[in-house]
Amino acid sequence: MHLRTVERIELPPAADMHVHMRQGDLMKLVAPTVVQGGVDTAFVMPNLVPPLTTVERVLEYKKELEAAAPGVNFLMSLFLHPTITPEVIEKASAAGITGVKLYPQGVTTNSDAGVADMKAFYDTFSAMEKHDMVLNIHGEVLESLAPKGTTLEEAFLPTLQSLHERFPKLRIILEHCSTAAAVEAVKACGPTVAATITAHHLYLTETDACCNPFAFCKPIPKKATDRDVLIRTVAEGNPKFFFGSDSAPHLLHTKTDAEPGKAPAGVFTQPFATQLVLLGLQDGIARGEIAEDAISEETLANFLSHYGRKFYKLPEVSATSTKKIVLVREGAKIPQSVRSADGSVEVGNSRAGDEVFTLKWEEK
Ligand code: DOR
Ligand code: ZN
Repeated sequence: MHLRTVERIELPPAADMHVHMRQGDLMKLVAPTVVQGGVDTAFVMPNLVPPLTTVERVLEYKKELEAAAPGVNFLMSLFLHPTITPEVIEKASAAGITGVKLYPQGVTTNSDAGVADMKAFYDTFSAMEKHDMVLNIHGEVLESLAPKGTTLEEAFLPTLQSLHERFPKLRIILEHCSTAAAVEAVKACGPTVAATITAHHLYLTETDACCNPFAFCKPIPKKATDRDVLIRTVAEGNPKFFFGSDSAPHLLHTKTDAEPGKAPAGVFTQPFATQLVLLGLQDGIARGEIAEDAISEETLANFLSHYGRKFYKLPEVSATSTKKIVLVREGAKIPQSVRSADGSVEVGNSRAGDEVFTLKWEEK
């Protein structure tokens, strides 16, 4: 297949293993966009206000999401916090909660209650290993802790390595990996360590992120060479690397009103999640980073759907869905924003104005 010219692509429903669904009216606006982006299974992040630190709250939130977006399989997570003891892990596992998200304290949006001392959680990690829960890591250090010339993600990689050595059976996901070094580090670990790759890290670099509030996110997009390693990683097809959009909606005015460099971190890609992955790959082909025919339907199905489900030990998509997604070139363009009917809630889309495939759901 030549991705830049193909007119029609058929894929299994995608699994987006990293989404931010937020709360209240913003949640009601963004949850339905999961389906629009071609996704039937979504792993939901717990950095709400306040963060999701009890099993009860996670289950309540799951119900709210299911009401807002019927038909989506929401995989849920707890926010790692001193109250997440081995007992809570046992209860969470019994309740069907899938993962626990580790935010180093203060590294990103709503992470003030995050982890300051990793060792304090070793018993919790042991319990997670025992109950086969997934540890989802935001792999960055605070700016004050990164040696000069090292990115916040690169400075975190030794911690990933040592956690993996100490808990070799614990399934760990390095979320939204953004550097060539992170890709290498994940490859060097055993099969229990994987990583998600977003759509936007396939097309943004530090130059975009510095000056466009809609391209600003954590981890900050890096150099063109890092972006191109991510593209090649997708093209190569390695089961350790699968799709997690990290779509992170913020109200439009908080982006546009912010002083330069002060916008809240997060790129909103959910309504075009699948198509934006394709755009990033198409750009990579146009630059000659990967060959014209480097991306097959199989490559896309693996990255967008199969590999993530497999790592999470979910049933194969063919066993759980009677649907497929069909992408057709009809000259559609990404609108500026997604808005509620009364206009009170609005979120700006990534790559607004760019031409994308139209996505339809059909019976197989
Ligand atoms: O850009 C980001 N936005 N990165 C994160 O880690 C959090 C997210 C958010 O919740 O807004
Ligand atoms: Zn995130």
